[in-house]
Amino acid sequence: MSATMPQPPSGDLGSLLRLDGKVAVVTGAAQRIGREISRAFAGQGAAVVVTDIQDERGQATVEEIRAAGGEAIYRRADVSQSGDIADMVRFAADRYGRLDILVNNAHWEKVGNVVELDEEDWDRSFDVLLKALYLGCKYAIPEMRTVGGGVIINISSVHAYHVSDRYVTYQAAKAAVVHFTRQVAWDFGPDNIRCNCVCPGAVPLPSEVTEHSARDPLFVEEQTLLKAIKRIGQPADIARAALFLVSDLSSWITGQALTVDGGEFMTFPSTGAQRTRRFLEAHPERVSPSYRLTP
Ligand SMILES: NC(=O)c1ccc[n+]([C@@H]2O[C@H](COP(=O)([O-])OP(=O)(O)OC[C@H]3O[C@@H](n4cnc5c(N)ncnc54)[C@H](O)[C@@H]3O)[C@@H](O)[C@H]2O)c1
Repeated sequence: MSATMPQPPSGDLGSLLRLDGKVAVVTGAAQRIGREISRAFAGQGAAVVVTDIQDERGQATVEEIRAAGGEAIYRRADVSQSGDIADMVRFAADRYGRLDILVNNAHWEKVGNVVELDEEDWDRSFDVLLKALYLGCKYAIPEMRTVGGGVIINISSVHAYHVSDRYVTYQAAKAAVVHFTRQVAWDFGPDNIRCNCVCPGAVPLPSEVTEHSARDPLFVEEQTLLKAIKRIGQPADIARAALFLVSDLSSWITGQALTVDGGEFMTFPSTGAQRTRRFLEAHPERVSPSYRLTP
């Protein structure tokens, strides 16, 4: 008697992207990336529990989803509070009878170097950017197990791999998110629970790009200078990556960090510097008076 090999989910590609019958919780979903993720998931048939601490904006995300024919409900959840995270998960499972998807997206950080930062700001940043992921998984995974599996998406950042001025909480936490993701994926893969993270580059709202461009005609050129794809990314670009990663199209992908940045962070710093130099030579008015290009 030959053993039956487990097979990948079957169906046409369009149906594998659908999330009909699935229930998702998205944290920090009142605006920007969390809002777009919620809209994308609901657009593919998931019931979405939109959570945040901005009640009016969170409710507005829900209204948008409902107006488009989707299913969503708002629940206030401060992810720096363990009790709120437990409640958020319980609420989703009680309301819709199951929990299949968790997106840890909420964001708060205090900028500063290690000398400047107060201990309480360090703690609060890490509560929101890292501890909330542990708590979200801690409460969501038992619910996912009861329905035979689930998917977790953690939103990290390209800052996981790069340093910039005085961003120590953000960068340390986002780097930890990448490895935390691998560990959860490893521990719970046998429960049919996948865990991946998305590392976005900068994704301003389209309205912000329009506003900046009205003031500065070179804004888009400057922002895309170091990108392979000559377009500024948008929250919807991140939401589509998250959608792929929660769908059955990615059923054999777990523990991965998917960078979504228009190809900005893959080149050598020296190549970026050459491009910047050419840009400044073409636009000498951009060179600050205190900085001189050497011949
Ligand atoms: N926007 C970008 O360019 C960018 C780039 C890389 C990574 N990211 C990451 O993507 C995620 C979303 O980013 P964004 O730009 O949409 O963030 P945002 O700051 O625009 O929105 C974050 C949301 O989290 C909510 N929030 C803050 N503290 C909270 C708390 N204690 N409990 C619950 N909700 C809370 C806010 O109210 C807000 O709605 C974050 O994890 C961020 O680090 C964003």
